[in-house]
Amino acid sequence: MTLQAIRYHRGNLEILDQLLLPDTTHYFSIQNANEGWAAIKKMQVRGAPAIAIVGCLSLAVELANTEITTLALLKELVEEKLDHLVTARPTAVNMADSAARGKALVRQLAKTKEYEPEEAKLMVIKEFEGMLEKDIEVNRNMGRFGAQHILQHYSKTPVNVITHCNTGSLATAGYGTALGVMRHLHENKMLKHVYCTETRPYNQGSRLTAYELVHEEMEASLICDSMVAACMKEKKIHAVIVGADRVVANGDTANKIGTYQIAVVAKYHNVPFYVACPSTTFDPSMGTGKEIIIEQRPHNEMTSIKGIKIAAEINCWNPGFDVTPAELITGGIITEFGVFKPCEIKEKLEKIK
Ligand code: MRU
Repeated sequence: MTLQAIRYHRGNLEILDQLLLPDTTHYFSIQNANEGWAAIKKMQVRGAPAIAIVGCLSLAVELANTEITTLALLKELVEEKLDHLVTARPTAVNMADSAARGKALVRQLAKTKEYEPEEAKLMVIKEFEGMLEKDIEVNRNMGRFGAQHILQHYSKTPVNVITHCNTGSLATAGYGTALGVMRHLHENKMLKHVYCTETRPYNQGSRLTAYELVHEEMEASLICDSMVAACMKEKKIHAVIVGADRVVANGDTANKIGTYQIAVVAKYHNVPFYVACPSTTFDPSMGTGKEIIIEQRPHNEMTSIKGIKIAAEINCWNPGFDVTPAELITGGIITEFGVFKPCEIKEKLEKIK
């Protein structure tokens, strides 16, 4: 059974505390949107798709347990809570995308006055609930398209891949984005070995991806972030596959800090570099990566691990993400609709969506 980061039934949301993994498996309950915001901010749940799902479901739980007497009240509450949820993590666009959909729905419901307040509330709840199933379906499609592309273009035999950060069941509703591609390759006996980076400073690779790879019984090795170039030189790496937090109109892509340097090294070694993300990670409102706001994280994430100091008293620079220029995404951008070149992503997705 795959790991489950999010447990939900109407009126009840529990999430796996990812800060305690891999040592402790602890689910805790989220009762409302403010608690959802806090869990996202603290990174008890993280990963662009999971952030959006937990944010919206935390509001669904709050709505299920709140009596709504007027449509105006529903609109005001949903708009205010969604706007707040978007502020928890600024770089990943998925929460903002879901918030825009949720707000459009309540505005429409308040304008048309076709439904009673409680009926309208239920429609909003159902809209948020749909995200769970949809995300898994989208991930499965990405997995299939990505695996097919790699096998068609780069290898007829089982592949070795490098991945960064965590993009699996813990970062999504299940299956995963980049890890979903590896999962599909594995299910079809076409995955030889995964090299996963530690992903300093917050170690999503060593704490979470390594845990998922072991759980799924994929052949894998953990490497430090500083070993990527040596790994590409020494091992036969067929592809790098990473996730994304925001892909903008020209294909520039924000993802976990360290992604950019892996893309540079991949280009040097002629290894195809893939980004796997749902179309909800695409943000056509920004022209280039220069416009993306990069979240700055607290210094103590670099200077200590689980409360133990590992650095001298020194100032730190701790951006949570970096931007990989489109030209370095040489394999392509894997979406639920197919694999696209970064330069064609805008046109393709605009035609489909
Ligand atoms: O800071 P995090 O752990 O939320 O960063 C996560 C990543 O950068 C992932 O690669 C990205 O969100 C894709 S998750 C499917």
